[in-house]
Parts: sequence; C-alpha cells; structure tokens
Amino acid sequence: MKKNIVLTGFMGTGKTAVGKELAKILDRKVIDIDEEIEKKKGMAVTEIFREFGEEYFRTIETETIRAFAKSENLIIATGGGAVLRSENMDALKENGVVFCLCASPRVILDRTKGSEDRPLLNVENPAGKIEELLACRKAFYEKAGFMIDTEEKSPSEIAYEIVELMKCGK
Ligand code: S3P
Repeated sequence: MKKNIVLTGFMGTGKTAVGKELAKILDRKVIDIDEEIEKKKGMAVTEIFREFGEEYFRTIETETIRAFAKSENLIIATGGGAVLRSENMDALKENGVVFCLCASPRVILDRTKGSEDRPLLNVENPAGKIEELLACRKAFYEKAGFMIDTEEKSPSEIAYEIVELMKCGK
C-alpha cells in the first residue's frame, strides 16, 4: 500500500501543476479536488460560489475529499481552503502525507491575477484579500507535515523535492 501524496496551500502556489508533475514521475493518478467537484456538480467552482455560496461549496468539498482520502496511491491536489475544516485534514492524513506549497503574497498575486476562476480573489483589492486570507489561514496551512517553498522553482523541481522527501520515509 502506498500512501497518498496530498498537496495543500494557498491559491496560486502550484498545487495542480505540481500534482501533474508528480503523477508523471511516480506513474500515479492525480485527483484535483476542484475538478472533481466541478464534474460532480456540472458547474464551475465560480458558479457554485455564485449560485449557492461558499458554505455549500465547502460541504461538497468535504464530501469529495472524504471519498478520495480513502483510496491509496493517489496524488490529491486540494483547493486552497480545504485546510479550514479539520475533518478534511484528518481524513487526508489517515492515509496520506500532507505537503503545503507556499509562496509570498506578491508571487501569489502575480500568479493569480487575470484569472476569473477564483471567486475569493474576484474582488476590488485582490492584494489586500490575499494578505487577509493568508493571515487567517496561516495556522491551518502550518499543520501540514511539510512546508515547501515554491518561489523561483518550477513545478517539476518542486515535484522532485517531494519525491525525495517521500523516499526518506519522512
Ligand atoms: C479556494 C481555492 C480554490 C477553490 C475555491 C476556494 C480557497 O482552489 O477551491 O475557489 O478558499 O482558497 P485553488 O487553490 O486550486 O485555486
């Protein structure tokens, strides 16, 4: 049995891209929780937020995480807010090693600007919103087994760093 590799971290830290690289390197399946939610509901995340609100999204997110956390040998890329519910992280940790990808607010702003599919940053002052959310979520992100700095690194470099950490059995 191989433990799942779980990627958490704020929006724009590269969870999806790193997940794809890891899947290639390790020949494992990657599950992107946001994509699974979109498939299940037949709606984009932005639409779900707009039509039903954030709490509804969080409930579907928890259901989706719970379903995949039971599997093994997966790469699971979560949405940036998945860390907020302890039940999500408890489920993911049961059979997975959790990595949190990190970047500074400036880099996050740069990587997310212009994107329409992040409802929480679709505001007048996205820089301020990033600072505010990061401050609220810091303690939640820090519960991961490993914090990985993603600045000035390619998704492939980050993926290899994670592979090495998994090899050490850490
Ligand atoms: C969210 C992050 C998004 C998505 C939703 C909420 C968040 O995922 O789940 O918009 O609360 O940080 P990404 O981190 O993949 O952008």
